[in-house]
Amino acid sequence: MDIVRAEGLRKSFGVLPAVNGLSFAVHKGECFGLLGPNGAGKTTTIRMLYGYTPRDAGVLTLFGLDIDRDIREIKRRIGICQQEDSLDPDLTVRENLAGFARYFSITGAEAQARADELLHFFALQGRAGDKIATLSGGLKRRLMLARALVNRPDLLILDEPTTGLDPQSRQLLWDKLTELKGAGLTLLLTTHYMEEAARLCDRLVIVDHGRILVEGAPATLVREQVGETVLEIADPDRAVREFLAREGARVEDLGRRLLVHLDDGDALFLKLTREIRAEGCTLRPATLEDLFLKLTGRELRE
Ligand SMILES: Nc1ncnc2c1ncn2[C@@H]1O[C@H](COP(=O)(O)OP(=O)(O)O)[C@@H](O)[C@H]1O
Ligand SMILES: [Mg+2]
Repeated sequence: MDIVRAEGLRKSFGVLPAVNGLSFAVHKGECFGLLGPNGAGKTTTIRMLYGYTPRDAGVLTLFGLDIDRDIREIKRRIGICQQEDSLDPDLTVRENLAGFARYFSITGAEAQARADELLHFFALQGRAGDKIATLSGGLKRRLMLARALVNRPDLLILDEPTTGLDPQSRQLLWDKLTELKGAGLTLLLTTHYMEEAARLCDRLVIVDHGRILVEGAPATLVREQVGETVLEIADPDRAVREFLAREGARVEDLGRRLLVHLDDGDALFLKLTREIRAEGCTLRPATLEDLFLKLTGRELRE
């Protein structure tokens, strides 16, 4: 049984479709990624999954339960880490956890024990008595994540969990998410950090304008749609461009930079650097970011 099954999900705000017929399934124990540029419809999709945003159309089940009929049971079994900080500023770190536990009828000594366990897991013990206003962005995010786990959910939903965090906080969150997945938790996350998705996600979809562009395992998608390696050429001159045209290379022209997608090793790179020029030419593995930009384009979003 799938943890999430979404078929033909739709949501419009006014005449603009934010989610335009999305279908996907999240399997038990995997980390599933919802990727897309700003405004792609990620948050709207996630909000439909926990009944926050009513959908216009589509069939949606979580744990095999119907979202319309069994929303209470579904909410009991999911943890949600929203994109925006929704911590209670008047409470301390510990009170935020224990207070949230009450929504799940976890109270008294049990709530305190659960709070302790989570404070320890997220290395927040030292800040347990501090008010939210004194926390850095990274600490708040850790607390948001801890809070989302208070009810021991079967599915953890994370909307851009590391946006705006410094590298140290991001690494720590990645480690914690990996640990949780190792313990059997199913994860559904949105992100526009490609490195994050490549690291954490077993499978993912790339969404734009409310529609799915591709679906699959990150490494497979990159190999199939971009190639093995990318040759980057800075400040290409005419000789370089003519060489690439003669060789019939797959060139993406960014003006002051050329990207050449290669799937037959480094032969073209060697020929270019020997016969034309070596300066400014770099060979690197193809990444999910290459795929993302290829599919969603390079123009700026909202
Ligand atoms: N409550 C809302 N009212 C009007 N438009 C909205 C609302 N929420 C989202 N939108 C619009 O729907 C589109 C998708 O938004 P969103 O799901 O937040 O995208 P993402 O999370 O991928 O950045 C955007 O164009 C956004 O402006
Ligand atoms: Mg969003």
